[in-house]
Amino acid sequence: MYDNWEDLEQACLACRQCGLCQERRHVVFGVGNPKAKVLFVGEGPGEHEDLQGEPFVGRGGQLLDKLLAAIDLDRKTNIYIANIVKCRPPLNRDPLPQEQEACIGWLRNQFALLRPKIVVCLGRVSAMRMMKPDIKITKEHGIFLEKNGTLMMATLHPAALLRNPKQKPAAFEDYLRLREKIDELGCDVAK
Ligand code: URA
Repeated sequence: MYDNWEDLEQACLACRQCGLCQERRHVVFGVGNPKAKVLFVGEGPGEHEDLQGEPFVGRGGQLLDKLLAAIDLDRKTNIYIANIVKCRPPLNRDPLPQEQEACIGWLRNQFALLRPKIVVCLGRVSAMRMMKPDIKITKEHGIFLEKNGTLMMATLHPAALLRNPKQKPAAFEDYLRLREKIDELGCDVAK
């Protein structure tokens, strides 16, 4: 465990703990305010993220930014965004269990430094890993669950919303609930 962000990021950028390191162009460590109390967790970098070294910068990321802006959240200001795996799985396949296992320590360390009050899981892979292995995201999105003192909520992955735009209004409800919860806990960081 590293006790500061600089050392943690430096070590993560040099990681070779699984095969994903071979094809990567960038390790996608995370983005945001290290003092934020709301942590978003995606699945793993796609092509654009691998090229740019930042989470959610493709079309899905643009949609995510719009949803965030609607509830006065911003990736650089009052949240932190990370992924379960920090390197791109080939052809955007789901990260394998052994890849998740090899990588999860980085996220655990990020979690330990942030001490978030709320975790939002973006998509099934993240929700299964962070919340419960048998989660049914289509039914259980938008529902807060408490785990070891942290509130957790899953929402549909932005890429899934691009594939199926009819799900956007339901997903938007999740973001409205999130804003309510942030206000209730008073856990937005000052701008
Ligand atoms: N999808 C994810 O789950 N994470 C990213 O960073 C980009 C796309």
